[in-house]
Amino acid sequence: MTETSDYHVPVLCREVVDALCNGKNGCFIDATLGGGGHFRALARKLSNGATLIGIDRDADAIEWNRRNPTATAASVHLEHARFSEIARICETLSISSVDGVLIDLGVSSFQIDHPERGFSFMQECGLDMRMNTREGAPAMDLIDRFSVEELAGVLARYGEIRNARRMAMAIKSSPEAIRSSSALRTCLTREYGQLKYKVLARVFMALRIAVNDELDELRTFLAAIPELLADGGRIAVISYHSLEDRMVKEFFRNSEPHCICPSSILRCTCGRPGKLKRVNRKAIVASEDEISVNPRARSARLRIAEKIAGVTE
Ligand SMILES: C[S@@+](CC[C@H](N)C(=O)[O-])C[C@H]1O[C@@H](n2cnc3c(N)ncnc32)[C@H](O)[C@@H]1O
Repeated sequence: MTETSDYHVPVLCREVVDALCNGKNGCFIDATLGGGGHFRALARKLSNGATLIGIDRDADAIEWNRRNPTATAASVHLEHARFSEIARICETLSISSVDGVLIDLGVSSFQIDHPERGFSFMQECGLDMRMNTREGAPAMDLIDRFSVEELAGVLARYGEIRNARRMAMAIKSSPEAIRSSSALRTCLTREYGQLKYKVLARVFMALRIAVNDELDELRTFLAAIPELLADGGRIAVISYHSLEDRMVKEFFRNSEPHCICPSSILRCTCGRPGKLKRVNRKAIVASEDEISVNPRARSARLRIAEKIAGVTE
């Protein structure tokens, strides 16, 4: 199942649809719509009476999907918003419970391929990196505002850059480094000589995560999910960064029952009955076949959890 478009090639598409959608009805949310690859695959399964919501914080993604509408019998809503706002969006649409939710983290190929968005170190571009260009500070302003220690913290934590203080010092001591992607690369080359592709990729990824506050977004989103899901409803998360995957893994594990009541008690009284159960203990990864046609799938990790029936907040 490939819902390929110029915008983005979806990763683990069949696995996501199989995991989320076992009926034709219900309410489903793709909270990282992008080019709508997963969205379309879900839409094809649904009949009238079903509801499908697509969320993206990038106005270009919403606009692209409005111009390329999905053929489906389901009722479709597209929302330009952050996925951390999922509870508010459901409330506004009078949706009290959801049967399946997907987030496919990171950036789309469209965002990378459009130099004016400032995500790519391979092309000449200004250092913007905001997924929503109407909100927050672009990367160049953030770097400008950061102290050496703050910048080093971002590079070390999100980019796993070794001796990140040295890199932060080099960037902060050459003010022209933040003018463009090539200026930043030149600054780094002056300090280190030619850097490997994967190190540059990690520098840019670290800055992007900071600009878009991506880990806090994920944390807030996950916290809202148990209450939103219907009994038996499922959440699927595809992550590409070890910090994100760890956060999802721990959240799912900590949401499972940890009941410490004695086995002689019929009804749990310890208050730790759990809200979710993991559908897969190990992350699902892409096949070599998928990776050969879509190298981006190589680092994808899919985790799925299901709402335990009868749990109220
Ligand atoms: C990997 S792409 C999703 C691709 C999509 N699954 C497809 O099949 O085309 C990630 C998308 O998530 C969006 N995004 C990232 N963080 C977001 C957030 N906090 N809230 C809403 N959308 C977000 C990005 O703008 C981008 O369009």
